[in-house]
Amino acid sequence: MAHVNENYLKLPGNYLFASIAQKVAEFSKHHPDASIIRLGIGDVTRPLAPAIIQAMHKAVDEMGHADTFRGYGPEQGYDFLRQAIIKGDYHRRNISLDLDEVFVSDGAKTDVACIQEIFGQDLKFAVADPVYPVYLDSNVMVGHTGNYLADKGIYEQVVYLPCTAENGFKAQPPTEKVDIVYLCNPSNPTGTAMSKAELETWVKAAHDQNFIIIYDSAYETYITEEDIPHSIFEIDGAKEIAIELRSFSKCAGFTGTRCAYVVVPHACKAYTKDGKAVSLNPLWNRRQCTFFNGTPYVIQRAAEAYYSPEGWAQCQADVNYYMDNAHTIRDGLIAAGYTVYGATNSPYAWVQTPHQMKSWEFFDLLLEKAHVVTTPGEGFGPHGEGYLRLTAFGTKENTAAAIARIADLKLCK
Ligand code: MLT
Repeated sequence: MAHVNENYLKLPGNYLFASIAQKVAEFSKHHPDASIIRLGIGDVTRPLAPAIIQAMHKAVDEMGHADTFRGYGPEQGYDFLRQAIIKGDYHRRNISLDLDEVFVSDGAKTDVACIQEIFGQDLKFAVADPVYPVYLDSNVMVGHTGNYLADKGIYEQVVYLPCTAENGFKAQPPTEKVDIVYLCNPSNPTGTAMSKAELETWVKAAHDQNFIIIYDSAYETYITEEDIPHSIFEIDGAKEIAIELRSFSKCAGFTGTRCAYVVVPHACKAYTKDGKAVSLNPLWNRRQCTFFNGTPYVIQRAAEAYYSPEGWAQCQADVNYYMDNAHTIRDGLIAAGYTVYGATNSPYAWVQTPHQMKSWEFFDLLLEKAHVVTTPGEGFGPHGEGYLRLTAFGTKENTAAAIARIADLKLCK
């Protein structure tokens, strides 16, 4: 008799964005004429940049000829892309990396969900609250948490780091013992970003308290302020305590194309039960070689083209387009009387619900009355209650129309 993995039964509901999609589908069924504007999931709408498309076409043609055809690629990614990543994302910020410290993958969601596999079963972890749900759900599924406490909206044995208006939505280092901490900077969902000095505090805490930081910088391209680090490796001593995850989804429009990478420095170590230090790099390499046969060649050539001068400029134009939307959301909602955070170094705006409305209640109201899809803050954790997240990844026209519809409801006046 096969037994199920009962950890799955601890999960209270569906994956957040799947639940929202279901709710929206249900609404559409009953209101087929409603013109729904989606500012919920952070899915891009700009087409892939011409330089990227050109590189993909070329790579597709190569796959059609015996002398340039490629079969299984290296599990860690082709050297051409790893070199482009190191040069484009790290050398220009004076960070040196070895080629074998970079692991190309088919998406940061996969990496974020799987990275915990290289740590011990008794792993104790901390997450910001609110937080991107994959960090938490993936750890629940493998048994790194206790039960879900429905009345509190939290799991036993997880350390939650509250991010509130009072602390600028910035997680503070844990005061109790943990093994790893997930940090997303700029933050999904709140759109706020930690400064260099704040990140230095984290790196120091990781050294002093002996924990590893899983640093998700999927949104670093959206940083506009000088003092916000793009990589945790800009901080001295970070290579010993951090793993960094990056994605091509938001900087180059790859949400449907799928490519990302993880940096596991050789210097980053964890311990055996008897106290022996073990480098995490060969462990992640071993894991990838067993579980993964590499990102498709055509996709890696596409990602490489992002780093070409043309690709870089074209993608930056798209990032600017989305940031204009972010400002439309932020400024439009502030003018309508809302309190809005984020949207300065991030494509996400974090909006306080009016009159202390619950976040799902406000989500329903906006769907029903404005036909605008958002993401309720409570879906990201208990401290997300009282907020909604709006994404700037829509079209310019839809974003402006959505904000006008929300303002027209006059809920804050
Ligand atoms: C989000 O909306 O939080 C992200 O798009 C989800 C993801 O990147 O998987």
